[in-house]
Amino acid sequence: MSLCCGAAKPRKRPSRTVAVLVSCCLFLLIVCACLLAALVFVGKHILYNHPHARHVARNLQPVGLPTETERRFWRLPNDTRPVLYDLTLLPDLAAGEFRGFVTGHRKDLVLHSKDLSIAEVVVRKEGRVLQVVDVDESLVGEVVIITTREKIFPGVYYVFIRFGGNLKSRLTGFYQSQYSGSNGVRQIATSKFEPTYARQAFPCFDEPNMKSKYIVHLLKPKNASYIALSNFPVNKTESYDETHELVTFDETVSMSTYLSCFIVSDFTNTETSFNNSGVTIPLKVYASPENLDKTTYAGEVGKKAIEYYVNYFGMPYPLPKLAIPDFVSGAMEHWGLVTFRETALLYTNTTHSTSNKQRVATVVAHELAHSWFGNLVTMDWWNDLWLNEGFASYIEYKGVLAAEPTWGMLDQFLTAELHSVLSLDATLSSHPIVQTVVTPDQITEIFDTISYNKGASILRMLESTVGEENFQKGVTNYLKKYAYSNAVTANFLTEIQGVIGNSWDVAEMMNTFTVQMGYPLLTVSVDGDNYTLTQSRFLKDPTASYNSSESIYGYKWTIPVTYVTDLGKSTDLILFKYSDDKITIQKPTGATWIKFNYDQVGYYRVTYPDQEWNNLFSNYESLSTSDRTHLLEELFSLAEAGRVEYSLPLNLTKKLEQEIDYTPWCVASSGLKNILKYLNGSSSIQEETLKAYVSKIVTPAYQNLTWDESEGDGHLRKLTRIEVLSLACSVGHTDCLLEAESQFNTWIDNQTQLSQDLRSLIYKYGMKNASEETWQKMLDVYKSESDASEKLKLVNGLANVQNETLLSSLIELCKNESIVRGQDYFSVMQYISSNPVGTSLVWDWVRCRNSFAMYPNAGAGTANRAKALETVQNNIRWLAQYKAAVESWVNSTAGGST
Ligand SMILES: *[C@@H]1O[C@H](CO)[C@@H](O)[C@H](O)[C@H]1NC(C)=O
Ligand SMILES: *[C@@H]1O[C@H](CO)[C@@H](O)[C@H](O)[C@H]1NC(C)=O
Ligand SMILES: *[C@@H]1O[C@H](CO)[C@@H](O)[C@H](O)[C@H]1NC(C)=O
Ligand SMILES: *[C@@H]1O[C@H](CO)[C@@H](O)[C@H](O)[C@H]1NC(C)=O
Ligand SMILES: *[C@@H]1O[C@H](CO)[C@@H](O)[C@H](O)[C@H]1NC(C)=O
Ligand SMILES: *[C@@H]1O[C@H](CO)[C@@H](O)[C@H](O)[C@H]1NC(C)=O
Ligand SMILES: *[C@@H]1O[C@H](CO)[C@@H](O)[C@H](O)[C@H]1NC(C)=O
Ligand SMILES: *[C@@H]1O[C@H](CO)[C@@H](O)[C@H](O)[C@H]1NC(C)=O
Ligand SMILES: [Zn+2]
Repeated sequence: MSLCCGAAKPRKRPSRTVAVLVSCCLFLLIVCACLLAALVFVGKHILYNHPHARHVARNLQPVGLPTETERRFWRLPNDTRPVLYDLTLLPDLAAGEFRGFVTGHRKDLVLHSKDLSIAEVVVRKEGRVLQVVDVDESLVGEVVIITTREKIFPGVYYVFIRFGGNLKSRLTGFYQSQYSGSNGVRQIATSKFEPTYARQAFPCFDEPNMKSKYIVHLLKPKNASYIALSNFPVNKTESYDETHELVTFDETVSMSTYLSCFIVSDFTNTETSFNNSGVTIPLKVYASPENLDKTTYAGEVGKKAIEYYVNYFGMPYPLPKLAIPDFVSGAMEHWGLVTFRETALLYTNTTHSTSNKQRVATVVAHELAHSWFGNLVTMDWWNDLWLNEGFASYIEYKGVLAAEPTWGMLDQFLTAELHSVLSLDATLSSHPIVQTVVTPDQITEIFDTISYNKGASILRMLESTVGEENFQKGVTNYLKKYAYSNAVTANFLTEIQGVIGNSWDVAEMMNTFTVQMGYPLLTVSVDGDNYTLTQSRFLKDPTASYNSSESIYGYKWTIPVTYVTDLGKSTDLILFKYSDDKITIQKPTGATWIKFNYDQVGYYRVTYPDQEWNNLFSNYESLSTSDRTHLLEELFSLAEAGRVEYSLPLNLTKKLEQEIDYTPWCVASSGLKNILKYLNGSSSIQEETLKAYVSKIVTPAYQNLTWDESEGDGHLRKLTRIEVLSLACSVGHTDCLLEAESQFNTWIDNQTQLSQDLRSLIYKYGMKNASEETWQKMLDVYKSESDASEKLKLVNGLANVQNETLLSSLIELCKNESIVRGQDYFSVMQYISSNPVGTSLVWDWVRCRNSFAMYPNAGAGTANRAKALETVQNNIRWLAQYKAAVESWVNSTAGGST
């Protein structure tokens, strides 16, 4: 998502000083819109990072602070507000209007507009037409400035704008897309406005706090298979001309521009409904006709999640309908018309894996949570984006838990949200959650792991500190108070404070986590039963230096300390304030072990003296699943940062011989694979010894889970099977590799049905020693496959072949979009480069073809190169610092028969 404003020449902007406030009466503005577009789609799919592609952890880039000039150019005057947009979008001709009011008097009206050609502007007041003397479009600020001969005084104005725009060759604004189905290639029109693209579809006040109502008219082909969708239900459909109909939608509630959505397609739908505090609301899931049977699950999980939210938020779902269509534009919480990309919406047990199913559930639960948090109450400005995204990323776990209580979602929060951001936020290039942004580029940059995952993690910590019930009450009060309006972070914290009373300062604790980046490491020292904790900033690179005076809290935090012992969890609030040097906690009398930060609810790390660690190891089986997951993750991370000896996490892995739960295996598997990745190519015999050790400790779990899926297997057992078998195969577990190869050969020869969950593994390890003929056969399967998820699994298999010539030809195929879909390009490159034979091929290719230049809008060129460089440096540092210690542990321990 690039916004090309570099070449723009600055134009004059109206001075802000003319606004003299008079009374606050209503102006009415009317805009008549016309959208010109040809129906032929000639553009390529442009790759871009969708804000909601949050499962791909983004490289953190320092976000530059906006300058005063930027602020002046990129924010609209705040004395004009829209009241109603009456908007007509036609694929040839359109007319629309909106109303607004002004509370200052000035000579001009400033609205956002980008890539639109404005043909006519009429401004009226009380039926009288005002003379428009200038319509000035400015690329800087992406605005249109309408100047009238007479001054604009407070009141209601009607503005009519006729404009044209292009639907083609873009993936933002209102645009054309295509898909190939049973009826050949079909054209559809859809929209994507978050954060700053509504202005590419119609002139508007494109800021989240300039909420307005909408009356939308959409033109659609008369052909009965075409439908038009928008946020609200259809009001009426009229004949427009020989071949078109005009669909009018009901007037909406007041909402931000980025939440409006317009779709014209030939999709069909399945329908269910949900109970909205006693009223039945239809819930329709739309997809292309051939995918319709895969929408049932999204409907089921959507219904359960939304009924849970209605109850949790203590407020009904605010709109009269809810539709969930499948669109390439990605997952987006358009109010009443939540859109999803295919892989996040479609699921059946015969075509998708257990992880695909979980992805559908989590993304649906996430987007639906926005109906309240984000849509009903919206952040005042993008600075507080984390309120929207962090909240939805946290509450989605409650939504999925309600829909799928056996999935262990609360444990999975650690591995799916918390651990990745703890890793990113431990670098100097991180940034605070609350960040001042002004320009569209700055705004898109904060749609990152910090806003989503750290936001979710500190809300989880807040909830555990104030208690679930108080948290829920605070949330409900906040939603009621700011419904149909906007709020900032402080407003939310004030509501939580209001519920718990004034015994301690909620905002002070939270601010230490929101206005400064990073997080603390608590170091425990023990004297009898007295445990004394001190805090320091945790960084992955132990040699990194920084200036603590650049943060107003000096990189100290107000930390809610918790612990668990064999006697139970701590219940009293223990606040380690940022201004204190240390805090002492007494181990409860009679407790034999103590673990701080129970279930890893706090956004901090803890390290202990060796004997305390070993005491926890001895009691591994008594710990909760989350605590075991935490223990493993903490030790691998502390070792990588040089805070503990590598022998500690490695010693702990011996406990895995008794482990059968999903999240501990997730963490252990990635920790061990990480070490093996470092050792790979360092021509170390210890690499083989370590693999044999891992193969041994994974065997009990491998034998318990086996390749045979049984009908009674629960969701978590299925996920654990994937994790454990994949670890086993990756370290060369003999039985695992034999089974993968044998199933692969039967499949390629005789087209047998493979397990949905295990086929990725079978493709990958089956391909390892495959012949050229087999590879070609699989390539044909890939080419003829239409399912997006399956295609990715197949190509991951193709990328794992050991023949360099074949890998090179796969890289060449990536250029052909009729074979590799544009949106899959980077995934395929990643698959190839994670194959040791392919790594250098990808880099050579990148260097000589400058492939990232093919996708200038992906913004990924420099970021990916920087990331690759960082990886190499990290690798060198790791080998220098830890290789010897790991090898010595491997020699003394892993080689033995323990
Ligand atoms: C509008 O912006 C000005 C300058 O930033 C500010 O002083 C004023 O309070 C704002 N008015 C409203 C109604 O928000
Ligand atoms: C839609 O239809 C109803 C009558 O069913 C009418 O009252 C309303 O004004 C119509 N228009 C809009 C834009 O809601
Ligand atoms: C898929 O689900 C259906 C109905 O829920 C069930 O009958 C069938 O056994 C399942 N198939 C597989 C392969 O799990
Ligand atoms: C532990 O702390 C308590 C209370 O501060 C103190 O009375 C006691 O002497 C301390 N014990 C040791 C072993 O330092
Ligand atoms: C790891 O285990 C070995 C063997 O049991 C032991 O000698 C060593 O001290 C342990 N390492 C640490 C840091 O506790
Ligand atoms: C697998 O492990 C579970 C939990 O430890 C145990 O209940 C079950 O009996 C084991 N099954 C097999 C086949 O070993
Ligand atoms: C495919 O099926 C044929 C006939 O049943 C059988 O002879 C052959 O062994 C099978 N191939 C594999 C790889 O299992
Ligand atoms: C790799 O594939 C090429 C053709 O694509 C083939 O000529 C060559 O023999 C293969 N190499 C090996 C070692 O199999
Ligand atoms: Zn979201």
